[in-house]
Amino acid sequence: MILDADTIRKDFPIFETKMHGRPLTYLDSAASAQKPRVVIDRISDFYASRYANIHRGVYQLSAEATLEYEAVRTRVADFIGAPDAREVIFVRNATEAINLVARTWGEEEIGRGDEIVITTMEHHANIVPWQMLAQRRGAILRVAKISDEGVLDIDHLVSLLGPRTRLLAFTAVSNALGTINPVAELTTIARERGITSLVDGAQAVPHQPIDVAALGCDFYVFSGHKVFGPTGAGVLYGRLPVLESMPPFLGGGDMIESVSFEGTRFAQVPQKFEAGTPDIASVIGFGAAIDYLETIGMDRIADHERSLLVYATERLGEIPGLRIIGTAKEKAAVISFVLEDVHPHDIGTILDGEGIAIRAGHHCAQPLMNRMGVPATARASFSIYNTREDVDRLVAALQKTWELFH
Ligand SMILES: Cc1ncc(COP(=O)(O)O)c(C=O)c1O
Repeated sequence: MILDADTIRKDFPIFETKMHGRPLTYLDSAASAQKPRVVIDRISDFYASRYANIHRGVYQLSAEATLEYEAVRTRVADFIGAPDAREVIFVRNATEAINLVARTWGEEEIGRGDEIVITTMEHHANIVPWQMLAQRRGAILRVAKISDEGVLDIDHLVSLLGPRTRLLAFTAVSNALGTINPVAELTTIARERGITSLVDGAQAVPHQPIDVAALGCDFYVFSGHKVFGPTGAGVLYGRLPVLESMPPFLGGGDMIESVSFEGTRFAQVPQKFEAGTPDIASVIGFGAAIDYLETIGMDRIADHERSLLVYATERLGEIPGLRIIGTAKEKAAVISFVLEDVHPHDIGTILDGEGIAIRAGHHCAQPLMNRMGVPATARASFSIYNTREDVDRLVAALQKTWELFH
């Protein structure tokens, strides 16, 4: 059964809000997704009637909050195909997950002259932590090329892999181009060479079914807020033996087994990586988001967004002077574009006046923008609550923008 976005919209209270007196067309889900009422209610109910700290109290409220929090861990593991719930570490977001790996696994495994391979289409979150690690350890960062269409050059990537390559870190889906990378192929290439792999799934998890075991990656990271959950809850998935071999990240309460002034014994995975009071309510809200997505079905979501992408790509072709940046055959419902000499920020501002929210800028992917020969783009990204009518409104507003400037 195809997804009915008009019905889905009713689950999201934000669409009752008018923008400059107009209905909201929200085309910035790649930055952050809107929240369904079930998520908002679960958080609010938790604070109102079930709130307590976790992993500490012997009293009922705390014990139940702990159960609820840990149930989300199991829920996430099932959702992404992790064989063991202990492989799910709760962090704030994808950025923190990557930094955790760089600061723990990276400090142990990366030495002078070792090499880390990434791609040209990475978000800054999957560049800067590796650059910082390489600087600390005297390692080398190598970057796989992409084509003019925004497709990863796998031959070039393979040519970069050598005896000193320790890590292949790449995005599953480009936030700025929409390109979908062949994740399983890339993790196989890494595994066959004994190279650890980290997949940045921030733009993949909201849009398609994920099975980390089938993908065969060592690490997989994503943010709950892009998956209709609240801000403050993200996930680091790691294969259990890898996580167990890693030193802890932050030190403090909850991540220990015992502490004395002579020394500390650390807790087992996953507690070893979750020092201090976590964002309990956000994790619990994130659980509601996963429940919500599963009632819709990830395959239906992927089909809906694919059909919106085809329709939007076709319709945007009607605008004079509009050029789509990123035209890979395998694409998520993200369309980056430039409109001849109109600055993307001007496009964003004019569209805002029409009640249309898009992103304008470098999308935290400055090296990618340089590669594509543009300083910035305007970006429309689509999700479950977007309709063809949203696309039509976008196209009409862009026509108007074009006319204003020419
Ligand atoms: C591909 C990709 N990786 C990582 C991130 C970072 O996500 P967060 O800011 O939630 O840590 C983003 C956010 O836009 C992204 O699109």
